[in-house]
Amino acid sequence: MRTTWISPVSAETKAKPVVVDGPSFALNGKKVSYRFHVDSVTGDLISDHFGGSVSEDPVAQILTNGGGWSTQAHIRREFPDLGRGDFRTPAVHVKHAKGYTVCDFKYKSHTVIEGKPALPDLPSTFGQDEDVTTLVVHLWDSYSSVAADLSYSIFPKHDALVRSVKITNKGDSSISVEKLASLSVDFPHSDYEMLQLQGEWTRECTRTRRKVDYGMQGFGSNTGYSSHYHNPFLSLVTPTTTESHGEAWGFSLVYTGSFSVEVEKSPQGLTRAIVGMNPCQLSWPLAPGQSLASPECVSVYSERGVGDMSRKFHRLYRQHLIRSKFVNETRPVLLNSWEGLYFNFDESTIYKLAQESAKYGVKLFVLDDGWFGDKHPRVDDKAGLGDWVVNPKRFPNGLKSLAENINKLKAANSDETLKFGLWFEPEMINQNSELYEQHPEWVLHAGQYPRSETRQQLVLNAALPEVQEFIVKSVSNILETVPVAYIKWDNNRGIHESPTPDNHHAYIIGMYRVFERLTSKFPDVIWEGCASGGGRFDPGILHYFPQVWTSDNMDALDRIHIQFGTSLVYPASTMGAHISAVPNDVTGRTTPLRFRAHVAMMGGSFGLELNPDVIPEEDKALIPELIALAERVNPVIIKGDMWRLVLPESSNYPAALFISEDGNQAVLFAFQIRSTSVHNFPLLRLQGLDASAMYKLEGQGTFSGATLMNGGIQYRFGADYDSKVVFIEKV
Ligand code: DGJ
Repeated sequence: MRTTWISPVSAETKAKPVVVDGPSFALNGKKVSYRFHVDSVTGDLISDHFGGSVSEDPVAQILTNGGGWSTQAHIRREFPDLGRGDFRTPAVHVKHAKGYTVCDFKYKSHTVIEGKPALPDLPSTFGQDEDVTTLVVHLWDSYSSVAADLSYSIFPKHDALVRSVKITNKGDSSISVEKLASLSVDFPHSDYEMLQLQGEWTRECTRTRRKVDYGMQGFGSNTGYSSHYHNPFLSLVTPTTTESHGEAWGFSLVYTGSFSVEVEKSPQGLTRAIVGMNPCQLSWPLAPGQSLASPECVSVYSERGVGDMSRKFHRLYRQHLIRSKFVNETRPVLLNSWEGLYFNFDESTIYKLAQESAKYGVKLFVLDDGWFGDKHPRVDDKAGLGDWVVNPKRFPNGLKSLAENINKLKAANSDETLKFGLWFEPEMINQNSELYEQHPEWVLHAGQYPRSETRQQLVLNAALPEVQEFIVKSVSNILETVPVAYIKWDNNRGIHESPTPDNHHAYIIGMYRVFERLTSKFPDVIWEGCASGGGRFDPGILHYFPQVWTSDNMDALDRIHIQFGTSLVYPASTMGAHISAVPNDVTGRTTPLRFRAHVAMMGGSFGLELNPDVIPEEDKALIPELIALAERVNPVIIKGDMWRLVLPESSNYPAALFISEDGNQAVLFAFQIRSTSVHNFPLLRLQGLDASAMYKLEGQGTFSGATLMNGGIQYRFGADYDSKVVFIEKV
């Protein structure tokens, strides 16, 4: 029996982004509806629907044969709290002054706002009034005088719903927030599979799919950061969902700190998904009058498969998350000094590498780790972090003069001169540094416990205002004196000892303050995030930085997997992807230069990361041609839609198609991993074209979209690691 005072929302109001009808709330996208209502008896919020468009609530709401241990187990709860008979994992866990942890959040009122307010201190999606509408539902626990505001913003064009939660202590004694999920959603049944991106250093974003089974399954990070281990992203799909068919829900947490994803299939056959900050590292104290806001979780729904879900994330993130002015700009082809020289350089070797870069047509030269430290020079990874002054022995003429000289180099085959980019790792410190001598207290630590090192380094406590100030000043000093066009912001270890659990979140807020200040002060710099590769590839970072270094693994075969995996949520425009030398430093594998380049140019920021001195002559001759090709495809990669045509985990012939926003241009990437003997090559069927339009397929003639999508194209490949990049133009 249904216990509500709901009246159905009428069909004609359905198109409005937010519809409130009595106790019933509906958020409507183009092809998605999200609905819940206030229960007339309990005052609790009850979930009704999250999926394809509906004009009223689904007919059968709470039909159960009843019984069982729990009074709530059959109920789909919108904001499940703890201690009132719902034995599933809660979205909120508050510890009151007296020690009890029961909550009783009831509907109090709601507000509808055109547009979307920003979240204080946290990165958030944004949009104009015509892009997004926000519904805030105010809940109230009268026993403890604690308020919970659930905020829902719908971006109808993107079928995306963004949720965050704010807890306010309106009582007169302190409380502690032990858990505060950004998203909690109860699905009506249990027949789901979950897709996630797991990995490690050099194996980021490996796509993994498993059945949701009874009990709890989940993943997360307690490294202090989003981490290589699991991306803060979950997708639920039906067992038959594929890349291009079936229902897919995606949940992406806009946060760079430790997080937690829980999926629970209940004994009575419902599925609950909870996404938010990691409760083990929260325990956030709230004095009377104080609030805690959760990060946002972006939910996207598609009835047309995982690929469509990804494209919805990509467009939303390009248009409504990434603030950098470079978000839609083509990126300069760069050469990064790291794998070519590692720590072994001085001014003349660096300048020579920059000269070489210019000869090949590179537009941006990036000086990676090893340029700084005076008393404790950074000549290896044992010293120098924290001392952001140029190493005077390596660069006797200073960075400014080096950068200016590089700026004078003319890039071959163009009118441009080279820009200069620089590496930083500002959140870190070596004990061998002047900074540590002066401020050992700035390091994250827990009382007398040893300060455990990774890569000989410790972490600065970015929660401290003086540390934030120091970082802003150190980076600004360089940017104010040296012509720097690009910064790679690295971060090479997780957080071990922390003074208190809540310091983890405070650190992330502090770091966001630093990003906010620096990126608004230096908007003309291309900021690239990095954390030993893709250890912090998350929407929180992307709010400030338009691109992230995808992985330290540049082996082209592995990179196809990593980049395809990363593209599950993040647009290709945000991926840094380089060609390195062979045999590859991580895998020892040798692949042809053309293959390496074709894979790398599927990333928005294409570059080289090698010393051209060590590459064979025939490869040297090929580089300018490959750079020209990368520059030609880059506009479509940056702004286009990505269609993963064939997945690398299921085929020897992975392929992707990028289609420009207006649909007039496309670039096809087709790969062969291993050569096969006496076997037909596969027919590659394109997707996303206009069936009735005609397309010029470079080098092969003109075909209808229908032929290319339904008939397909067969390419002949040669040896192992062969590849094609084909331009397609609408005629
Ligand atoms: C880790 C990064 O991922 C690499 O690209 C490089 O910048 C090194 N750090 C430098 O220490």
